[in-house]
Amino acid sequence: MSHDNSIKPWGGRFSEATDAFVERFTASVTFDQRLYHHDINGSIAHATMLAEVGVLTDPERDQIISGLEAIRAEIVAGKFQWSVQLEDVHMNIEAALTQRIGITGKKLHTGRSRNDQVATDIRLYLRDEIDAVAQELTRLQRGLVGLAKRHADTIMPGFTHLQTAQPVTFGHHLLAWNEMLQRDYGRLIDCRKRVNQSPLGAAALAGTTYPINRARTAELLGFDAPTANSLDSVSDRDFAIEFGAFSALLMTHLSRASEELVLWTSAQFNFINLPDRFCTGSSIMPQKKNPDVPELVRGKTGRVNGHLVSLLTLMKSQPLAYNKDNQEDKEPLFDTIDTVKDCLRAFADMVPAIEPRQAEMLEAAKRGFSTATDLADYLVRKGVAFRDAHEIVGKSVAYGIAHDKDLSEMSLTELQQFSASIEADVFTVLTLEGSVAARDHVGGTAPAQVRAACARALKLLDQRPA
Ligand code: ARG
Repeated sequence: MSHDNSIKPWGGRFSEATDAFVERFTASVTFDQRLYHHDINGSIAHATMLAEVGVLTDPERDQIISGLEAIRAEIVAGKFQWSVQLEDVHMNIEAALTQRIGITGKKLHTGRSRNDQVATDIRLYLRDEIDAVAQELTRLQRGLVGLAKRHADTIMPGFTHLQTAQPVTFGHHLLAWNEMLQRDYGRLIDCRKRVNQSPLGAAALAGTTYPINRARTAELLGFDAPTANSLDSVSDRDFAIEFGAFSALLMTHLSRASEELVLWTSAQFNFINLPDRFCTGSSIMPQKKNPDVPELVRGKTGRVNGHLVSLLTLMKSQPLAYNKDNQEDKEPLFDTIDTVKDCLRAFADMVPAIEPRQAEMLEAAKRGFSTATDLADYLVRKGVAFRDAHEIVGKSVAYGIAHDKDLSEMSLTELQQFSASIEADVFTVLTLEGSVAARDHVGGTAPAQVRAACARALKLLDQRPA
């Protein structure tokens, strides 16, 4: 490799070649080349605007645009030669343009800096990725709400402290996941608004002396508006941090769901079956079918949370305006995007295929005396004070444990040993069906409420842009 600085766009003031290691150390092209598409789009908008304001002639603009399109085609075809000596995606493409069209290629960078260029590229790239993430998140939510709707009546134990607490419906449980994802979607869309602002024209840090039209480049690139301050525009990466925060929360939610899927597929719970195509086996234990997909989603949450901390730490000590530190924003951001998209895809594919084992869920709900609160509430309705009711039911449960009987399996005489207020109508509240049906208010687990909640959730999903 030659270390001749004449190939570098900034080589003019340098009298010796860059140290070979420093060249590699400072280069970003190995990872920022994935911005090529958005880099070229940004350059085309910039050239179009420069021609409109008279800084470039129309033939120069046309030459630049066709040159850039030819380079794009070369990159897409995998024929483009990326060079570490040319440091990053921006200088690689600009050098290739000049090689292709000569002196006119050197005019593209008029009134622009890599500082506003890279900020523009990341925002354009992230905007597209946000839209892709939104699509996949919506697909997952549709599957989730669909499954919830099919299981509005399926009874399972609800847990606190992972101990059986009260019966709920499986549909209600799934809708709890959906609520988390619904808020994540809101955060994503909110983040998109602040991503979609154009830093182009901020130039190196102070703006430029050319008569540029920032509103025009913003419009050409589909941004909502130009950013307001040039120093801020080239330096802050808070929009990427916001995406990192959205991602960390989304992954945290997927991880919680994963944890439950892992538990539920175990022989000890045996609540669901995950079809074989989402599982893998063990190389030594022939009987094993492991829930690798949810386990990996749970595991990958760690790196996404870590990337958020990387981005925050990267930003925290930077004086205005641009610093090379910001080159370090890309790998955490890119890996966050890749990981989130993969995990959403895995979940969106897997969730509709979950097969609940309804008999096992029902049995488990019975085993844990999950209607104990219902019996206490029944006694309160008969005039017993709640604390006394609590005591009475506690004794009934102790009796049930000793005799291996659920409350609903005891005879009236057996129940009446604990309170004379218990009458024959008690059995309607002791059934699991009666228990869930009684929680009949907004946000409650009654099957009718779950069906209504599914309808509301689907309506919200239908209102999203296609
Ligand atoms: N590769 C650089 C980055 O990712 C582009 C901007 C370089 N600007 C500079 N002044 N060295 O941040």
